[in-house]
Amino acid sequence: MHPPRILSGIKPTGQPHIGNYFGMMRPAIEWQERGEAFYFIADYHALTSVFDPAKLREYVRGVALDFLACGLDPAKAVLFRQSDVPQHTELAWLLSCQTPMPMLENCHAYKDHLAKEKTPSHGLFAYPVLMAADILIYDANVVPVGKDQKQHVEVTRDLAHKMNALYGPIFTVPEASILPTLATIPGLDGQKMSKSYGNTIELFPEEKTLRKKIMGIVTDSTPVEAPKDPASSSIVALYRLFAPPAEVEKMEVDFRAGGTGYGDFKKRLFGAVWDFFAPQRARRAELEADPGYVDGVLADGAQRAGAIAEKVMQRVRTAVGLRH
Ligand code: ADP
Ligand code: TRP
Repeated sequence: MHPPRILSGIKPTGQPHIGNYFGMMRPAIEWQERGEAFYFIADYHALTSVFDPAKLREYVRGVALDFLACGLDPAKAVLFRQSDVPQHTELAWLLSCQTPMPMLENCHAYKDHLAKEKTPSHGLFAYPVLMAADILIYDANVVPVGKDQKQHVEVTRDLAHKMNALYGPIFTVPEASILPTLATIPGLDGQKMSKSYGNTIELFPEEKTLRKKIMGIVTDSTPVEAPKDPASSSIVALYRLFAPPAEVEKMEVDFRAGGTGYGDFKKRLFGAVWDFFAPQRARRAELEADPGYVDGVLADGAQRAGAIAEKVMQRVRTAVGLRH
């Protein structure tokens, strides 16, 4: 048996946050030990929402630095920028010719846009097709993502089956890998943490910024003396990710007992988050001090990813009749 081929991507639409970390980055880093891992910074995808070139460049670099600081090891996993491998967009076109419109009309990013009465661009509408191409072009078996991406991996599987039925077995059919525990990390306002909701906690903010964000977590108006419900609190949900079980239990007991205000619980959460990321913070500072490092990693990654993508693309061009 071949080791599995693992692939995932993250959009450079802002600084990575703890939802990205627990939903995708940490699982991806764990997977690098178990197979051939390919992780990319989805800059083509970011163009559906980032229209400031300087910001896009800054986010790409930031995502690469955060990922490397958190433990992505370029000797074990290939880290690259999507636009360095233009075969992704070439394959997306071929797939889009077999994608029924209703399949895309059903996808949640598009539906969310319509629900907010915004006019989606064609790029946003077609985004799941590009994502399918991202996955299929590496013959990936496993796609570690957060729960919100499950639907897109289903679209990828459908398209792979459809193409295989039409042209013969050209694609590997991938599977999503979603962590069962706390599949969706809540944000400062209790909704899903997401860059697009402005409710994120980034991985490496200044101490003051982090403190301010955590103290700003939205809570109800239960008075200090009154008992509080740990099960419905995003403070507890977040604390669980960062603190040892005994500390979490203590917080739950203190919630139920009453007599402790939310401010106090938030301070405990702040301490746990700050300590949790201390080693990664130090590593990030080191990497940042070497200006050529990230560029070197991405250039090497582009070459390794590009070689595979071109091989698969040759197979596909032949299968559909574009080449002999
Ligand atoms: P955002 O919603 O902030 O724009 P992305 O779409 O860039 O985040 O997500 C990158 C990865 O992080 C995806 O695999 C996604 O499923 C995961 N992810 C994002 N937000 C969360 C969250 N709140 N909980 C769990 N996983 C998340
Ligand atoms: N759509 C993903 C997100 O919003 C990012 C992404 C793009 C991706 N292409 C991918 C994830 C391929 C996994 C595989 O988070």
